[in-house]
Amino acid sequence: MDYKKQIAQSIVKALDDKLEEQAVYEKIEVPKTVNLGDYAFPIFILAKTLHKAPQMIAKDLVDQINQTNYEKVEAAGPYVNFFLDKNTFSDEVLQTVLTQNSHYGDATVGNNGKVPIDMSSPNIAKPISMGHLRSTVIGNSLANLLTKTGYQPVKINHLGDWGTQFGKLIEAYKLWGSEEEVKADPINKLLEYYVRFHKEDKDHPELDDEARKWFKKLEDGDDEAIQLWQWFRSVSLQSFKRIYDKLGITFDSYKGEAFYNDKMDEVVQILEDKKLLKESQGAEIVDLDKYNLNPALIKKTDGATLYITRDLAAAIYRKRTYDFVQSLYVVGAEQINHFKQLKAVLKEMGFDWSDDIHHIPFGLITLNGKKLSTRSGRVVLLDKVLDDAIDLAKQQIQSKNPDLKNADQVAHEVGVGAVIFHDLKNERMNSFDFDLNEVVRFEGETGPYVQYTRARAESILRKADHKVTVADLKLSDPNAWETLKFLQAFPETVLRAVREYEPSIIAKYALHLAKSFNQYYANSKVLVKDDQLNSRLALVQSVSIVLEIALNLLGVQAPSEM
Ligand code: ARG
Repeated sequence: MDYKKQIAQSIVKALDDKLEEQAVYEKIEVPKTVNLGDYAFPIFILAKTLHKAPQMIAKDLVDQINQTNYEKVEAAGPYVNFFLDKNTFSDEVLQTVLTQNSHYGDATVGNNGKVPIDMSSPNIAKPISMGHLRSTVIGNSLANLLTKTGYQPVKINHLGDWGTQFGKLIEAYKLWGSEEEVKADPINKLLEYYVRFHKEDKDHPELDDEARKWFKKLEDGDDEAIQLWQWFRSVSLQSFKRIYDKLGITFDSYKGEAFYNDKMDEVVQILEDKKLLKESQGAEIVDLDKYNLNPALIKKTDGATLYITRDLAAAIYRKRTYDFVQSLYVVGAEQINHFKQLKAVLKEMGFDWSDDIHHIPFGLITLNGKKLSTRSGRVVLLDKVLDDAIDLAKQQIQSKNPDLKNADQVAHEVGVGAVIFHDLKNERMNSFDFDLNEVVRFEGETGPYVQYTRARAESILRKADHKVTVADLKLSDPNAWETLKFLQAFPETVLRAVREYEPSIIAKYALHLAKSFNQYYANSKVLVKDDQLNSRLALVQSVSIVLEIALNLLGVQAPSEM
């Protein structure tokens, strides 16, 4: 139900159609405090045409408005304030939530359009970082939001599985590696060899020549080189998948950089045909001066193709494969320029769909205020973060609810959910600090707090032992008003989150809804057996439904007991 529309119609009618409904609709505001009503209409747009004091116009307008649909309509200075009728409103909202259930907030704006999402995309033989975690959970939540609003997302893990570093890695492995070691602890061992290579090549520059030779062999399809590369790739992927499993996140495609090896010639060909390639110090570039960007480096002096060349091939491949309506890249803000270049080159190539490409950047995670990086040694190993979070959740559950059945499962959902929620409640572009103890708290602005509130709603319903009937759900209790209004705002909140590619809108919404519900529960007696019992339980159930949908949109589970 669009109450703003209803109000706009009331106003237009009272004014004998002197104003357009759309113009009125756009002016209607939501007042900052509840004592000013649920909606307010500023009189200023009328003052010019009516040549009367705004206060007078407001008073006259109130007299003209048919007030049967409202609790009251009041003039307050140059505003007309509308107070919705609580009984009608609650009845409508609660019926809608209960009948639509998990589909509440579904939309069709996506028209089944396909939306590839480039997300996570870690590099083979290196640990997955907190930055990759952000990309993974933001991308996953965007995929959920897109599904809910009628799009078809395609989650693509664009693995960093090609490049000269594999020549170095092969050389290092041949010198110092052992199969057993790698099998036992793939990522750490491969990283160790790689780091050792960089240490030793300072004094032994011949190592670099060997590495170059190996990479050349890899490019030429040499058996041994290919086998080693495939092995590194598959053991790395196995350990990445352990983390994705813990997070409960899956992908539709693992086509990484290597997949585009045979697809770059075409890109270079198109660039040549369109006379876009220029030589500069032996390298091939596309000049992007008119976009105010640095030139895009398409081919290096030695003929090797670069990161952006693969991304050009990937973008074209995705357009052909999915005929996407949008193509998203959830990648850290440090690559903003790269994606600007990517779009600009595609545009120059004559692909007008380059406008449908959107880089979704995000800020850094810091640890005690410091940037995390492999070099500084401040790598936080994601696997460990998740396990620690699960342990912390388990401790709290044991002290709060020692008899809980399937406590391990719940601890997993709470611990992992806490890490995901903490990441998503921050606006994407904001950097934030990671402190595990903060993250897993059951109070405050945390995932466990929302989960706990939802589990509490479920426990109230269990205790009540009353089957909610979906009829006559009038609820006049002013304590319930804020919660009802949040429930009603959920569908528009989902749409806003998709439009802005901003999961934090959903996380903040869930926190607000949970908080308002806890206030309601603290101030009103829900379980007394009077004639509004059914309506109150309908509210409790609606809150449970909407909190579960919101958590799931973020990729967080909602245990019904904890
Ligand atoms: N592997 C890259 C990194 O870790 C991210 C790749 C992002 N996706 C892309 N299509 N460029 O920095």
